[in-house]
Amino acid sequence: MKKLIVANWKMNPETIAEARSLLSRSLTVISKNKSIDFLAAVPTPYLGDAAFKKRAKYLAGQNVSWAENGALTGEFSAKMLYSLGVKYAIVGHSERREYFFENEEIIAKKIQKCFEAGIRPILCVGESTAIRRKGLDLVKIYLKDQLRQIIAGTEHSLISKIVFVYEPVWAVGAEEADDPESSAELINHMKSTLKEFFGLPKPKVLYGGSVDGSNIREIFAQKPIDGVLAGRASIDPGEFAKLVKNAKI
Ligand code: 13P
Repeated sequence: MKKLIVANWKMNPETIAEARSLLSRSLTVISKNKSIDFLAAVPTPYLGDAAFKKRAKYLAGQNVSWAENGALTGEFSAKMLYSLGVKYAIVGHSERREYFFENEEIIAKKIQKCFEAGIRPILCVGESTAIRRKGLDLVKIYLKDQLRQIIAGTEHSLISKIVFVYEPVWAVGAEEADDPESSAELINHMKSTLKEFFGLPKPKVLYGGSVDGSNIREIFAQKPIDGVLAGRASIDPGEFAKLVKNAKI
């Protein structure tokens, strides 16, 4: 199975001109590595631009509303994304949890809205530093709880469409990624949980948090890791080129 690289541009770059250039440079680089699939989660205002719409199959939203429509200034719905040709959206990112107070209940509603609109959620889960310090066994319990709380109400046939991401909060925007052996162990555990509780035989689970051109080889060497969600490295064209080149498996 091909590994998946999801670029999370977050609130970057600053202008549509830069965004068009970043997208086309990223796709050129990606076209040279046939062993990976690629998605770019770009800022919402860029998704409607003609240069982006043309490449909608490579695009993802960074968020969706938990609501269908209505008086919710500043929000946008999963249906709106779908109407632009977008088929994926990140849900449950730790930055949304921290700065926009999203909890498991809200995230579960967002997943529901994604499915109603035909969007595949890219669902992020992961522990804080405090939990990680207590050891991997506790992290496993935490991840199991997070998964169960978020997807318990989701129809089983739809759960297989979710792209899961193990993204430890402490590794986002950090100096170093998690060590790939630990991530692989935790991702394996997530996969067993998904199998045990939801009957999912082969869920896709990515790793996120300080992925770059220097550590991607080691991360991709871990079989259970089906891909990565990359922040900073995806908006720096030089680093992104290195990441994609070293992502050959
Ligand atoms: P960094 O790759 O910059 O650590 O960001 C990770 C992330 O939040 C991806 O969603």
